[in-house]
This record gives sequence, structure tokens and C-alpha cells, in this order.
Amino acid sequence: MCGIVGYTGKRCCVSTLLEGLRRLEYRGYDSAGLAVVENQGLTTVKNTGKVEALKDRSAERWPDFERCEGYTGIAHTRWATHGAPSEINAHPHLDDSGKFAVVHNGIIDNYLELREHLRGQGCEFKSDTDTEVLSHLIAKCYQGDLLHAVAAALNKVKGTFGLAVVCSEHPDKIVIARRGSPIVIGVGNDETLVASDISAIASYTKRVIFLDDDDMALITPGSIEIRNIENVPVSREIAQIDWDVSAAEKNGYEHFMLKEIFEQPQAVENTIRGRLDKSAATAVLNGLNLEPREMAMINRIVIAACGTSMNAGLVGEYFFEDIAGIPTDVEQAAEFRYRNPIIEPNTMVLAVSQSGETADTLAAVREAKNKGAIVAGLNNVVGSTIARETGRGIYLHAGPEIGVASTKAFTCQVSALLMMAVLFGRGRRMNRTDGENLINEIQQVPNLIQQVLDRAPEIEKIAIKYAKAEDFFFIGRGCMYPTALEGALKLKEISYIHAEGYHAAELKHGPIALLEEKVPVVALANNIPGRDKVLANIQECAARKSPVIATATDGDADIASLVQDVIWIPECSRFVAPVPTVVALQLLSYYIARERGCEIDQPRNLAKSVTVE
Ligand code: M6R
Repeated sequence: MCGIVGYTGKRCCVSTLLEGLRRLEYRGYDSAGLAVVENQGLTTVKNTGKVEALKDRSAERWPDFERCEGYTGIAHTRWATHGAPSEINAHPHLDDSGKFAVVHNGIIDNYLELREHLRGQGCEFKSDTDTEVLSHLIAKCYQGDLLHAVAAALNKVKGTFGLAVVCSEHPDKIVIARRGSPIVIGVGNDETLVASDISAIASYTKRVIFLDDDDMALITPGSIEIRNIENVPVSREIAQIDWDVSAAEKNGYEHFMLKEIFEQPQAVENTIRGRLDKSAATAVLNGLNLEPREMAMINRIVIAACGTSMNAGLVGEYFFEDIAGIPTDVEQAAEFRYRNPIIEPNTMVLAVSQSGETADTLAAVREAKNKGAIVAGLNNVVGSTIARETGRGIYLHAGPEIGVASTKAFTCQVSALLMMAVLFGRGRRMNRTDGENLINEIQQVPNLIQQVLDRAPEIEKIAIKYAKAEDFFFIGRGCMYPTALEGALKLKEISYIHAEGYHAAELKHGPIALLEEKVPVVALANNIPGRDKVLANIQECAARKSPVIATATDGDADIASLVQDVIWIPECSRFVAPVPTVVALQLLSYYIARERGCEIDQPRNLAKSVTVE
């Protein structure tokens, strides 16, 4: 969602702040701004729209970014929650004296009450945001010590925050704090950076400190003092990050999404590398930190996740039940904490999240821990909050996913869930031969994906043919049902076409009323159990004149005569089929969106990681 960058050091900060914001652009935002501490006080520049526009605006103030007189500054990209996207509502927000500037991610729940109180004390509010109460509160609490002022202000606040504050009286200081919204410190040589996301600072330093909830820090170019909100010093370790900055560049692809689709053979290879033990016909997932005896005692799995990660979890549900015989439920993470879920001592809650920062999934983790579950994370971002709070789990190692539409995370999540099901299955009812077969199949996944990618030009032609449709249905059965959900999610988020994923059997319980010649149906009819029934569903669609695009297994002689278009998928078992099939659906969505001229990497209204409820 919103992004924060801060810098204090020996270099002029403007270009570092703008470059940091540029690297955060992928998170989705509607306006941006920065505040720089200069000799004469704070200078702020804000703009709606792109970081490039903010750069142009900043150049009016600082014609040469490398020669400005500001060595400390904070910057922000905003995704509107309170108040429309506008220059006034863009961060940083200042107090009335213009001495304090604040950038903030999260939501201040009691801002209305605080605003009334502060208005009563003479404060003038310029924006509609919840954040502005923070700058006024800090100014009111200030008695010469910036850290104390921020701590005192935060003690009056209810809600979530990741924030950074500068003050014109302290030209080499930034105060940061976090509760529910990530903040990381980058430790450089004679310079210190802060950000809400490693990608903003990884090109400057690989040494980082992750703040925990209710941590605050006072940073200067050469020092970092961390305290909790009660003003007690706390120590946090410096972690060395393994982050390839070039992985967060487009490398010649037109969009990050396309690059990430094409990266999937390598990404899945990275997910499975070193985790398949052929000799024991099982998977090795040491990060779960479970002894075989503990694993055998797990009698229920609850997967909590949102969006694409939830769709991956729904595929995983089939794996755990079918392969390992463990009853599994998939919960929308947003629902999990409020509906008093039943968690028994041997229930494992698995939090699936690419970013590891999704607010609802994190809340589910905390609720599950409170209820005594064994809680594990399936995350991509190393050191993310969910990964740290679960303390056990599986990293995807998919590399940074920049496109807002999740692609490689899904295929890596499904691959990881399949390995996990094999591991649990082998500890229970699965025999060695079945284990070996599954291991062999998992090893084939990168190659299966590559075969689909090689067929991208054929998928592109089909996409162009249907790009003008305004409604789509995606249908499937078994593991292909959540695959259909994911196909529909991809299409709607990047092309703005109304798309619904349905279980193929559900179609006739209502949605069939919408079928007609202008409504294409994508039917997942791969040659796996359930295929014949999907063929019957295809006939139902055809009878309503809906054009049908089918995914089908290479060599399926019957399908071509039943449908308008076929996307061919290499032969594979029902367990791995969701992966190459979803890759084809990603490409279909991508080419449709491109044909419609959509902003593929930053779709309207969407943010990469949803860190508010
Ligand atoms: O980072 P997470 O996996 O927890 O994110 C969950 C969803 O917000 C995310 O998958 C979202 O649905 C994507 N835009 C899907 O492409």
C-alpha cells in the first residue's frame, strides 16, 4: 500500500528519496511527496500521480538534486484511505508551525476524536487524512526531545502505524516507529536509511534491522537507538539481506508482470531446490521445524490467506486431504479472527502470504497463536512480519514480485504446498512408490511451465480475439476449481473485465442465466479426473451460445470440435496440472489487458500488499 523512504547522511537526500519512491511504485499509490530538512526549515514537495511527476516538481525547487543543502529527509507514496487522492492529502503532513513533518502507513482509528481535541487547542487541519493528527500531536508533545515527543504522541493513538518524522530543529535526525505496518532500517557507512519495504533501500545497503511492533528508533547518519514505546531500550539484530537489486528491474520486458510470468520456471526451481529427497521419497522442509512425531500429531490444517494466496491455499486443501489425509480448511484471513474459529491443540494454521505483511493474514496468525495452534508461514519476503511472527515455515525464494498482480508467487506457493503434502503424506499413509512418483512430478514442474511459455504466441492470438469482451466466466473442477478462481482474479484485476470463477458444476445453479454469445467461458478441461464432466459443462455453455476457450491436454482429440479455442497444456498429473494451467491463464489475462491498453503493473485501485484491514 503506502510506501515510506527516509535518509540521513552525508549525501544530499533528494535523489535517494526519489529513487526509493520509484522502487516502491509497484506497491500501488495515487500521490507522493517528500520533506527535506534544510537550513531555513522544512521544504515539502507533493504531487498527485506518478513519482516521475514528483521528480519534475522537485526539480523546480532543487535544480540539481546532488547539490541541494538537505541531508535528511522523508518521503511517501500514498494509497488513499482517508480523504481522496489529492496534493493536500498527500504526505508528508506538517503541524501548524511547519517544524514537524510526518509520513505514515496504517490507519489512526481514533483520529476523529484526536482531531476534535486538537482543534479545540487551536490546531488548523488542512487535509482530510487521519495522519495529520500525528504532526499536530507531536508538535503539542514536543519539549526539545523529538523521540520523546513522538513516543508521547503515539501513546495517545489507537490504530496502526509505520511512520517517520523529521523536525527542522534536528537536521540530522529521523524518528521512526511501527505498530502493524512494517519499517526497516538500512545501516550504511555514515548514512542511515529507513523504508517500509527493503526494495527501496537495497541498492544502498544490505545490512538491515527490522523493527518489531511498538518499537521506535532515533536514527542519525552514524547511530541507531531503538526503544519501545514505553521508552525502554531494546536491541534488534542487524540482518544481512540477500537481495538482488536487478531482480527488481524489468530487464527488457514490457512489464514486470510479463517478466515475472516468464521467470516462473526459475522461480519454482528455486522453491523446490534442495527440498526433494529422492532416496527417502519425501520432501525436506526444515523451516517447519517439526519433528516427525509432532507432524504425525497434526490432525487438521487451517490455511489463512487473502487473494491469490488464498487461491493457492485452496489448491493446497486438495493436496493435504488427498495426499496426506489431513482434514483441511481454507479461511479468508479477514474472516478468521472475527468468527471465533475452532482451533484445537493439534491444529496447524498455515499463513500463506507472498509479502508476509498482509494485515488480515497477520491478524489471523496472532489469533491462531492466541488460541494455541501450531502456526507456520508460507512467505516469499524474507524477514517479513508474518515470517518472523510465525517463527517457522517455508520461504518461497521466488525473488521479488513487483507486479501488483501476483503470478510467480502462486506457482511457487502451489509447488511448496505440494511438497508439504508429500512430507506429511509420507509420515502417514503414503507409500514409497507414490512418494517417488510425486517427487518426480514436482521436479518436472519448471519444464512444464517452460512448455506453456513457449506457446505464448498462440495464447496471445486467442487473447486478442476476446479482448473486447466485457464479461468472462472461468470454470473448473477439483484442483482446477481454485485454478479457475485465480484465472478470473488475474483477468479482472489487470484488464478491468468482469470475470467470475466458478466450480463447473455450480454454473447451472444460477450463473448460467448470464451466458450468451458475448460472454466467453474459459473451461479448464485438462485430461485429469473430472474432465468428462467439464466436457458436459462445456456443452451447456455452448447451448447458451457462449464461446468457450478450453485448456486441454496435448493430444486430446475430442476437445477441438466442442470449443472455439484451445490452449494446449502438456500432459501431467492432477496434482501439478494447476501450475502450467495457471501460467496459461496469466498469459491470457496479460495479453488481453495489454490489448486493452491497461496499466498492467499498477492496476487502478490496487496495492501490492494490503497492510490495512
Ligand atoms: O502478499 P499476500 O500474498 O498476502 O497478498 C494477498 C493478496 O493481497 C494478493 O494476492 C492480491 O490478491 C493480488 N493482487 C493478486 O494478484
